[in-house]
Amino acid sequence: MIADLKISLCDLSMALSDVMDLVSPVFSGHHRQVAYIALSISREMGLPESERSTIAFAAALHDMGALSVRERVSAMEFEVVQPHAHAEHGYSLLRTFAPLAEAADIIRLHHVRWDERLDSEVVEAAGGNVPLGSYIVHISDRIAVLIDRTRDVLSQSGSIRDRIARESGAMFMPELVDVFEKLANREYFWLDLSSPSVGSVLHKRMHKADVELDFDMLLSLADLFRRTIDFRSRFTATHSAGVAAVAESLASRIGFSRRECLHMEVAGYLHDLGKLAIPTELLEKPGRLSPEEMNVMKSHTFYTYRTLESIPELSTIAEWAAFHHERIDGTGYPFKLSRKELPIGSRVMAVADVFTALTEDRPYRKGMSPEQAARVIRKMADGQALDPDVASEALTDLESINQARIDAQSKSTIEYDSFSSIPTEGRSAASD
Ligand SMILES: [Fe+2]
Ligand SMILES: [Fe+2]
Ligand SMILES: [Fe+2]
Repeated sequence: MIADLKISLCDLSMALSDVMDLVSPVFSGHHRQVAYIALSISREMGLPESERSTIAFAAALHDMGALSVRERVSAMEFEVVQPHAHAEHGYSLLRTFAPLAEAADIIRLHHVRWDERLDSEVVEAAGGNVPLGSYIVHISDRIAVLIDRTRDVLSQSGSIRDRIARESGAMFMPELVDVFEKLANREYFWLDLSSPSVGSVLHKRMHKADVELDFDMLLSLADLFRRTIDFRSRFTATHSAGVAAVAESLASRIGFSRRECLHMEVAGYLHDLGKLAIPTELLEKPGRLSPEEMNVMKSHTFYTYRTLESIPELSTIAEWAAFHHERIDGTGYPFKLSRKELPIGSRVMAVADVFTALTEDRPYRKGMSPEQAARVIRKMADGQALDPDVASEALTDLESINQARIDAQSKSTIEYDSFSSIPTEGRSAASD
């Protein structure tokens, strides 16, 4: 049923950067714009193809470590007050994934000013060397934040050029300001930048140096996405690790092949991908959500689906991942699918999501015991919300399924503790 996958790293990175930019209209297309500028500068400088593409990947993901909307808004100011925390978080998320390890190094220092490079604690902590790519992402990012999206772009190009030129040798490496000057002289540079099709231009240019991921790489990238999704908040820090473990173990009980079980694990890691488009402030709201907030929250599975289905090779994983709030009687959201339209993998994911949500500890409450959770699941299966067959399979070996969840979440807690010990702008570690 499932063939070997070969997936483009470029497609996956772009998908991640797009969904991150959906969190507020203020950021719409920001990562694409910065990637376009960075790639244009690298080309103009004649950098080798592979270096260009590393820089473009770094640019496409540069703010992935900005966890809250507030932190992202402050990174959109021309002069960011405390810029390095989100850079360090981004580095710490990305560095474990070998094909993007160099991009992680670039992201780590993407806010270092040229005139502070020799006297910077951040640079020292990173080993004393600032990659050229960091300076390129820095200037590209600052050019992008100067663009007022409500006005015609060509009419602003003069003032943006002046602003950037004033910072030559101060904020920016002089050579890069000169390269930008050349680009800025060409109208098409600005028109590309403000065009909705900037993504496809980018795609064409990055295509040559793209990397095809095999399944193991996909699993490792999905795990990286999992941390990017969950670590935005301590409220969700271990959720997808738990869901993936439960879904995988349930799938193997039901008779999925080994390969299908691994696909289930990937789907579990990605099931809440669309939460990247939900403000952290909402994920962490104490108490009940208002009807309007609930509607915003409900959009997360929609974004999971639309993001993953844009990559044709992931169509099955997209369905398994994104339909976890659909209910077999058709009362779920957002597609209102019912039992016969829901693949078995999606029905497994729904049970895994409910079981994990009920049993996991949250910062504000203890998780239910497996027996209490079993009662809730049985009731939901009787009420035609969850698939009765899948539910009864889960209930027959609750102990081992629960143990798989506990093991995965304990491991993830250790990862999260180390991630959240990185101090964050304007707040102490691990207490957003
Ligand atoms: Fe940034
Ligand atoms: Fe940025
Ligand atoms: Fe969800």
